[in-house]
Amino acid sequence: MASLDAPRIVSSRRDVADSFTLNRYLETGGYVALRRALTMFPEAVAAEVDKASLLGRGGAGFPAGRKWSMLRRSPISYLVVNGDESEPATFKDHYLVERDPHQLVEGVIIAAYALQVTQAFIFLRGEFALGLERVQQALNDAYALGALGSKIFGSNFSLDIVVHPGAGAYICGEETSLLEALEGKRGFPRIKPPFFPAVTGLYGEPTVVNNVETMSNLPWIINNGGEAFAALGAGRSTGTRLFALAGDVKNPGVFELEMVKNSFRDIIFDPALGGGLAEGRTLKAFIPGGVSAPWFGPDQLDTPLGQDEVGALGSMLGSGSIVVMDDASCVVRATWRITKFFSRESCGQCTPCREGSGWIERIMYRLEHGGGRLEDLDLLLDLCDNIAPGLSWPPQQTTICVLGPSIPSSVHSALSMFRDDFVAHVNHGGCPHD
Ligand SMILES: Cc1cc2nc3c(=O)[nH]c(=O)nc-3n(C[C@H](O)[C@H](O)[C@H](O)COP(=O)(O)O)c2cc1C
Ligand code: SF4
Repeated sequence: MASLDAPRIVSSRRDVADSFTLNRYLETGGYVALRRALTMFPEAVAAEVDKASLLGRGGAGFPAGRKWSMLRRSPISYLVVNGDESEPATFKDHYLVERDPHQLVEGVIIAAYALQVTQAFIFLRGEFALGLERVQQALNDAYALGALGSKIFGSNFSLDIVVHPGAGAYICGEETSLLEALEGKRGFPRIKPPFFPAVTGLYGEPTVVNNVETMSNLPWIINNGGEAFAALGAGRSTGTRLFALAGDVKNPGVFELEMVKNSFRDIIFDPALGGGLAEGRTLKAFIPGGVSAPWFGPDQLDTPLGQDEVGALGSMLGSGSIVVMDDASCVVRATWRITKFFSRESCGQCTPCREGSGWIERIMYRLEHGGGRLEDLDLLLDLCDNIAPGLSWPPQQTTICVLGPSIPSSVHSALSMFRDDFVAHVNHGGCPHD
């Protein structure tokens, strides 16, 4: 059974119909943390986040407090919040911006105060029409309340926040590409080094980039203390986390769970969470952390939902999206769809990513639709090995950003785990499921 005793930190207003309004936010403890933070030294606010050991929730899992403390040694010009969230099956920030925009805004103001930044940006996926409207309304409300703008709540701290819609490219979730887009340019990732945002970020200035969910944890951390947050979870994976559960489960959705204390089996099968698979179906595979992660099979179901626990088994928790495939799923089709996504979204700067993704996608297409050959199976692995040599995890990088090395994960996983399914597609002349 799942462990559901932990407090809800970022989804505490989940059952409140008008959770996105200022009135409801104030009635449920909103902006108390900001008032408290403003009575503390900025260093003390940052120290609470450090004590919480809050890992960034955007995918890479770098501790937010450590990122800030490394940067605070020299002045930081901008805080940029990443709400691009465009990967298939990843939808937890979508939930936060629509359902609790004030919590996000309050978190951003607290972070800006800790970093002593006077200009912040919230970059949101352009397709989040309702989310954009609600975050903009929350910003307008916060200005009217005195929580934003000049001399916030009578203090000496001033901050402006601008919300910026993306134009529909997945690659703009990668932080340096996001900064290019914010500057009004095409979303091309920058080469690191020298373009680490902390050093040469937005408009060439030192910049902190953090994810929407990372920011949304801050009001709770300031209200309850970093130690209370760190007491939840285990090891490096502290606190709770939002998981977006998709695919062949009875009850897909976004669930907030204490890290490590729950397993993939819990979230997929507990009646209060995913509710299990459809009647008569069995589990074939699941993707533990977004479609760029290596896949797991039924033997890994009891793996705890923790960053190091998943990493030790050769995959990643990533942005917290879990995709479940039952025994009726076609893994060749799933792999083709994932590869098609990456091929379409490759920005085209690097040859292995640009050429490799299209080549793999075309082979996957012919395997799924007839015309596949047995030699295609080894050709696929050879292509994957050219993009990420050695096919190890974490992958070797031959490209500017990690979108390229993300492409082989699904192909390599599906071929290693279900080679017979690929052979069946060749022998059948297309998908045997059709
Ligand atoms: C291809 C690609 C897409 C990404 N998409 C997102 C995204 O949609 N949202 C996000 O927060 N981070 C995304 N990231 C990670 C960011 O580059 C960055 O690590 C993150 O925003 C930092 O915030 P955090 O430390 O709070 O996690 C992406 C990275 C890559 C390589
Ligand atoms: S790896 Fe792909 S998406 Fe990333 S910079 Fe290179 S071509 Fe663009």
